[in-house]
Amino acid sequence: MGDPRLLERARPVEQFDTPELRALLADLQDTMNALNGAGLAAPQIGVGLQVVIFGVEHNPRYPDAETVPQTVLINPALTALGDEIEEGWEGCLSVPGMRGVVPRYARLRYQGFDQYGNPIDRSVAGFHARVVQHECDHLIGVLYPMRMRDFSRFGYTDVLFPDSPPIDE
Ligand code: NI
Repeated sequence: MGDPRLLERARPVEQFDTPELRALLADLQDTMNALNGAGLAAPQIGVGLQVVIFGVEHNPRYPDAETVPQTVLINPALTALGDEIEEGWEGCLSVPGMRGVVPRYARLRYQGFDQYGNPIDRSVAGFHARVVQHECDHLIGVLYPMRMRDFSRFGYTDVLFPDSPPIDE
């Protein structure tokens, strides 16, 4: 947080399945795995392209976390399904050591492409919908604190959740 590249709009990917895109995805995957995140967006590693990855397998550290399929999502378009809003805790690898409560659409349709250019079109809810909204916000220069409404529910992870923090996005 504080790096101006996190506040820029990312550019669409124009060519799929290239060596450059494969290298970017490997870098994103390595970074996400090393930091134990639920997702990561290209601008978070300094690349201004519309590429996000996310996914949550069953993890003994987060026994209550819903699973989310491992996904590469490129050039995404999001559509809220209804106007129900849910609040939930989020963290971000670009805002280390902190968690905050963020309002998000409860139900969401997202469309885009995988790394080979195959279309993706899913309608999701809950934690899956939250992760996608969080990651895609990185592509329009938005960090989760910019979505918060109640700063009494923002703080240091180890103070808020001494035992088992919510997963980082
Ligand atoms: Ni994030």
